[in-house]
Amino acid sequence: MNIPRRSLLLATPLAAAPRAAWPQSLSAGAFTHGVASGDPLQNGVIIWTRFTGAEAAWEIAEDESFERVVQRGRAGASLSNDFCIKVDVRGLAPGRRYYYRFLGARGASPTGVTQTAPAGEVQSLRAALFSCANMPYGYFHAYAHAAARDDINIVLHAGDYIYETPRGRYPTEAEAVAGRAIEPIRETVTLNDYYQRYASYHTDAALLELRRTKPIAAVWDDHELVDNAWREGALHHNERYEGAYADRIAAAAKAYFDWMPIRAPGGLRIYRHIDWGNLARIILLDARQFGRDQQIDYRRAFAPRLAQGGADAVSAVASFRREVLDDPSRTMLGQAQEEWFNQTLAASKARGQRWQIIVQQVVMGAQAAPSDITRLLPAGVSSNTRRWFAAGEQASGLGLPWNLDAWDGYPAARERFLEACAHHRANALVLGGDSHNCWANNLERDGRRAAIEFSGGSVTSPGVERPLTNAAPGEREAALRGANPHLAWCDLTHRGYAALTFSHAGCETEWRAFSDVRSPRAGAAQTTRLQAAASNAAGPGAWQTL
Ligand SMILES: [Fe+2]
Repeated sequence: MNIPRRSLLLATPLAAAPRAAWPQSLSAGAFTHGVASGDPLQNGVIIWTRFTGAEAAWEIAEDESFERVVQRGRAGASLSNDFCIKVDVRGLAPGRRYYYRFLGARGASPTGVTQTAPAGEVQSLRAALFSCANMPYGYFHAYAHAAARDDINIVLHAGDYIYETPRGRYPTEAEAVAGRAIEPIRETVTLNDYYQRYASYHTDAALLELRRTKPIAAVWDDHELVDNAWREGALHHNERYEGAYADRIAAAAKAYFDWMPIRAPGGLRIYRHIDWGNLARIILLDARQFGRDQQIDYRRAFAPRLAQGGADAVSAVASFRREVLDDPSRTMLGQAQEEWFNQTLAASKARGQRWQIIVQQVVMGAQAAPSDITRLLPAGVSSNTRRWFAAGEQASGLGLPWNLDAWDGYPAARERFLEACAHHRANALVLGGDSHNCWANNLERDGRRAAIEFSGGSVTSPGVERPLTNAAPGEREAALRGANPHLAWCDLTHRGYAALTFSHAGCETEWRAFSDVRSPRAGAAQTTRLQAAASNAAGPGAWQTL
């Protein structure tokens, strides 16, 4: 039975009816969570939908009215993929815009817009960078703002696309924004839990619109899996109550790959790359789970050394550094991924690509706490919070890093990463998330710049600034810059996203900030601009604020 023409017109009143007869016997079902696309190639792109029937048809066209359909086909949906349909469409032309949709017996899905990666000489690339979208913490104004723009080629998501935490923990019930509740109520542990959490996040109109209008390339951080994950465990995974860690990671990864419109390189691997003609190679890494060694805990690894009789702080620090922190065997990426990264940089340079854009999870630049940061805490702050900031001051006073879950906790691995960038004379920009604040770092090795970094800016999750309320505007930022000379600029106040424009001459970063994500009204976005020059011979120039 052909789909009645009338129902198609009813479902998509603005679109012309397709010219070709539709395949027979399409299932009745609903398109429950919009459409999405991602991981563009020069000749293809992944398209995605969720359909509650057995089989849907799809088509991709050069025009919005689907008069020039270039590919079409059918795809099955099933409970085993949570009814998510992913199609790897090939046979497309490089560097052009396409429109796509899915069809069931009851009509069409919304029409999605995507684009393929360009080939050959390419003059510009504009990417939007997001991380850390915690739904009950507020509205996704950053997603809505980017979705409404017509000048973004690709969305890069550095992770914390969802949060696995139970309702009422992060945020607490008192902090949670009304009307932004998540399902399930409990922490996500099983495959079904993760599926429910994705379905819950994808009720957000801004997120659906971003997915509908731009191709996405994403990597997970810890909260798509479990808080502070590493290769064989996580701070917040308890095997006694939550089962085997490997089972949980497998469930979280399956839900992620089912719901995200991205390529799955196989198993738990997410590292991969996307080429943008001769202008850039976007290298997506897993600095979270795939190969990462366990995070160091000062309480276990360092405090006992300090407490040892006869050892003063200086010698305790020296032995901790030598034996633990600087241990050259400590890895962030794992050996296989490090080798792949080296080969991928070399191949990009061999292709003559101007930029190597590295999307990964956590802050790479060293971060020392300002020596007097506790003065920015108000009198009534909890003793736990005061202790946490005081510990940061103490660590920094001893020349030790503040956040051991970031690259700061893996200095030998960071050194190898920057050495690879320097060795290949990569023009490398490192992008990340995780911290919920926004950092523009000049990354140096042996006193020479090896790469630059633009990290973070959360969509909603609160940053380190939250308790630091005893500060005049700009005071937190000035304190952090004072303690970290390689930090060119930071924002410890706003939520938002970055639009990064790459050319052969340089990169201009436009940080779009929203002062209130608790209000459903976004207000005007404040914009900060930074730029850095490109160089194939010596790596990128330092960040300059404009
Ligand atoms: Fe986060």
